[in-house]
Amino acid sequence: MKIGFVGCGNMASAMIGGIIKNRVADPSDILASAKSEAGREKARKNLGIKVSASNQEVAAFADVLILAVKPFYYEEVICEIKDSVKDGVIIVSITPGKTLVWLEEQFGKPSKIVRTMPNTPALVGEGMSCICGNPRTTQEDIDTVCKIFAGFGKSEIVTEEMIDVVVGVSGSSPAYVFMFIEALADAAVADGMPRAQAYRFAAQAVLGSAKMVLETGKHPGELKDMVCSPKGTTIEAVRVLEEKGLRSAVFEAAKACVKKTREV
Ligand SMILES: NC(=O)c1ccc[n+]([C@@H]2O[C@H](COP(=O)([O-])OP(=O)(O)OC[C@H]3O[C@@H](n4cnc5c(N)ncnc54)[C@H](OP(=O)(O)O)[C@@H]3O)[C@@H](O)[C@H]2O)c1
Repeated sequence: MKIGFVGCGNMASAMIGGIIKNRVADPSDILASAKSEAGREKARKNLGIKVSASNQEVAAFADVLILAVKPFYYEEVICEIKDSVKDGVIIVSITPGKTLVWLEEQFGKPSKIVRTMPNTPALVGEGMSCICGNPRTTQEDIDTVCKIFAGFGKSEIVTEEMIDVVVGVSGSSPAYVFMFIEALADAAVADGMPRAQAYRFAAQAVLGSAKMVLETGKHPGELKDMVCSPKGTTIEAVRVLEEKGLRSAVFEAAKACVKKTREV
């Protein structure tokens, strides 16, 4: 299976790194383009894949073609490659806001289109992605995409209307979590802990807490209650987080993210 990436920036590099590490595809079966020579050289050097200055060459090469440019470049890039794609190619979008119908229209012919939404923890093999195919895709096509995405994390099949929601809850949420880790570490630094150590403590606490949610199957509220002893230290912190509106801030932020996604 030949995998083509049109665009090879942050997201594509994270995906390709996992695909190669987990032997989903051989580096020689991956061809990527980038706009600048520097971008192509970085991909070639860091990932060991083949690169090209021609998006059309990537399109002609691919059995699975992943469009990894920013949303505002989608129209011009598809116009450039639409006559070069092979028959039966699976075209994968990783961008918000561009619908299955819109994407197929841009290709100007019946096409297998799969919309996905990955996130940057793909870089460490812990990505979370959603997958949704148009009616022309078969179960085998979806399985192929799932197999590729398993190279850099977990994925779930969703309906198309759910993709905007996925942007808010996992596509963009690593940024919110990084802010939380940074703030937690800042507080530790303010109390005298060296900065590097503070990041390790804060990040491991977040990692462990996330694993508890996933592995115990317990409600997050129950897990929170387990940490809060009566008259204890943790419930004092929880009281301040409630007073400062942590829940509401996260709720509103994720909703603003979804709203913005719908405007793209
Ligand atoms: N970053 C995230 O957290 C995230 C999460 C989910 C989805 N996404 C989606 O992933 C896509 C890529 O985002 P990103 O963060 O990886 O962006 P990025 O780091 O800016 O990478 C964009 C890539 O596209 C290339 N490019 C630009 N115009 C091109 C053209 N005309 N032909 C070929 N390549 C071109 C750039 O090349 P040069 O570097 O040479 O300019 C670069 O390699 C976006 O649609 C975004 O919505 C991103």
